Amino acid sequence: MSLTKEHTVTVHQSTESRIDQVDFDNLVFGSVFSDHMFECDYKDGAWQNATIRPYGPLSVYPSAKVFHYGQAVFEGMKAYKDDNGGVFLFRPLENLKRINKSSVRMAIPEFPEELFFDAMNQLLSLDKAWVKPGFGNSLYIRPFVIATQNGVSASPSTEYKFMIILSPAQAYYTGDVKVVIAENFSRAADGGVGYAKAAGNYGAQFYPTNLAKEKGFQQVIWTDANEHKYLEEAGTMNVFFRINDTLYTAPTNDRILDGVTRKSVIALAEQAGIDVKVYRLTVDELVAAANDGSLKEIFGAGTAAVISPVSAFSYKDNTYELPEVNSSFATQFKKQLMDIQHNASDDPFGWRYEVK
Ligand SMILES: Cc1ncc(COP(=O)(O)O)c(C=O)c1O
Repeated sequence: MSLTKEHTVTVHQSTESRIDQVDFDNLVFGSVFSDHMFECDYKDGAWQNATIRPYGPLSVYPSAKVFHYGQAVFEGMKAYKDDNGGVFLFRPLENLKRINKSSVRMAIPEFPEELFFDAMNQLLSLDKAWVKPGFGNSLYIRPFVIATQNGVSASPSTEYKFMIILSPAQAYYTGDVKVVIAENFSRAADGGVGYAKAAGNYGAQFYPTNLAKEKGFQQVIWTDANEHKYLEEAGTMNVFFRINDTLYTAPTNDRILDGVTRKSVIALAEQAGIDVKVYRLTVDELVAAANDGSLKEIFGAGTAAVISPVSAFSYKDNTYELPEVNSSFATQFKKQLMDIQHNASDDPFGWRYEVK
């Protein structure tokens, strides 16, 4: 863990809030940002100058390494408000651990836990009014790190900026999602950076996802790069398949992001006595299950949409429609997760974190 020079966060509060200019009933995901942001610089081998200031532009030179070598990682989390005005995070330590895991892979120094929680608590307390109560409402939290050292030599930066910005959100996807199973393109390779939330993993998905969109599908389910035989994950979601009453999801490895929602769904399913198999399901097994009627559900699991039911998938120019299911697993897990997140139910696993 890298040293920090000091643990105090300097706060420069904005003089006027922009909140009255925001139409909270018509939010486009990730397009509006709250009044404040957190930033902290890494130089001379230590994180320093931890500051909260009004959301605004950065001054960075064009030679900063992030622009040339993509040395950047990020996280995605959410804050939720209950009816009494309490603000909650969901398993935030998992996100800190994951950004540090991503950082290690990208040769970026890790960020200290104590400072992360201090910054998060102070930032969310200042911008508490931007977290709206009600199911589906949240404040999306985007921590990220960029390489800021000037110079275009292809070597790790010696300077970085860790930031947190906040964006009010409603439900991420509207309606069901139709997906394409990848046959040629790959998201990640063995020994690569697929398990990290490295910025370039996402930029690389835009082109194949655009091709899927042109065909009327919203997402791609990625398959293994070697054979395109095993189902892995979607763009920003892990994926679950229900065949009869067994729930399958791919094991995480160095190609797949270890999703917080994924592991929470597995825990909820096991608690409910559902047969969960962490198993490398093949595309052939999926197609066979779709053909014989045993495929009941496919759903994505991720912070942005919580649970996204998939209504159809396409493979080799065939489209397979999913059946309508009464009492679906997707609905059950979505309700349970949202109840925990919004402080509307017990929290048997200790996943909720109240912002102080
Ligand atoms: C590639 C990828 N897979 C899965 C997920 C779901 O992870 P989580 O549930 O932690 O949001 C995400 C989103 O962070 C992602 O980017």
